Amino acid sequence: MEKSRNIYYCYPVYRPPSEHASLLIQLTEGCTYKCDFCVSNLNKNFKVRAINDVKKDLDTANNLYGARVRKLFFLDGNAMVTPFKTLLEVTEYAFKLFPELQRVGVYAHAKDILKKSDKQLEALSEAGLKIAYVGFESGDDQLLQSINKHATKQDYIEASKKLMNANITLSATLINGLGGANKPEISRIHAIESADLVNKICPSDERIWYISFLTLMIPPGTVFYQRIKQGEFKEMNSFEILQELKIFMEYINFVNKKANCVFRSNHASNYLPLKGVLERDKKKIIDTINYGLKNKEALRPEFYRAL
Ligand SMILES: C[S@@+](CC[C@H](N)C(=O)[O-])C[C@H]1O[C@@H](n2cnc3c(N)ncnc32)[C@H](O)[C@@H]1O
Ligand code: SF4
Repeated sequence: MEKSRNIYYCYPVYRPPSEHASLLIQLTEGCTYKCDFCVSNLNKNFKVRAINDVKKDLDTANNLYGARVRKLFFLDGNAMVTPFKTLLEVTEYAFKLFPELQRVGVYAHAKDILKKSDKQLEALSEAGLKIAYVGFESGDDQLLQSINKHATKQDYIEASKKLMNANITLSATLINGLGGANKPEISRIHAIESADLVNKICPSDERIWYISFLTLMIPPGTVFYQRIKQGEFKEMNSFEILQELKIFMEYINFVNKKANCVFRSNHASNYLPLKGVLERDKKKIIDTINYGLKNKEALRPEFYRAL
């Protein structure tokens, strides 16, 4: 019998930039949430695919790529919603197939992390699910509610601790510009509460964890897009965005000074590429932000920004 050469995808697929070289396998399609800024839930009916279909795709990928597969990412925007047994079974199956596989990753809404017990997260981690990408967006509960995120700062604190206790690496994203233009107080609270959230989840050991900032983009079809059209929301400019990021950085203050928090704000949506380790590189990052605030020509032009 001829072996299949086609792996199923429901386009467009959603994966973190850092998983660009990973094997992508469609475990879920779409998303159960409808956050106001996000396109992952548009034009797709949510489903967890049948386990045998997912296994068939893994078999096909094994025939095509075999030992070249070192990282695997289960699509789509929130595969942590997958029932525990299914997620465990496909993760274990992948590790049986690919001899060089090092880790499996998923996007994970905080509520779906919290719905899994500590024992279940430990079992997933032991099976090889080693990284979860969580969208925090903000540490400010009012802002989170206003963007329909269906999660609170406390949810993020608890979900982060659960992941870390299970030895699953946390990679969390925050979004600059969520409050909109001409709202300095909302922007300030967003920055301060987000820094407080990051301070509170900092582990006491030297493990690596990731915090990244994206800058709000307005894709057509989203609620934000409608709000702009109706004049209810105006995007912050690059100056306001950098001010917000600077306040966030000033409020970073870890109890554990040996923490290994890899900080990135170098996504295509960002105006100024920033990276470093927190809190060690805090001053260097603030200096770079100050440079960007004074030198507009150092910033990414609007037309180059993308998601
Ligand atoms: C595909 S989502 C998956 C997140 C995961 N489902 C969750 O809710 O935790 C990935 C992340 O990209 C970022 N993102 C999505 N749409 C964005 C937009 N319009 N502007 C800026 N960042 C965005 C958000 O940080 C979001 O959490
Ligand atoms: S941010 Fe995450 S939870 Fe919200 S709609 Fe997008 S993928 Fe779903």
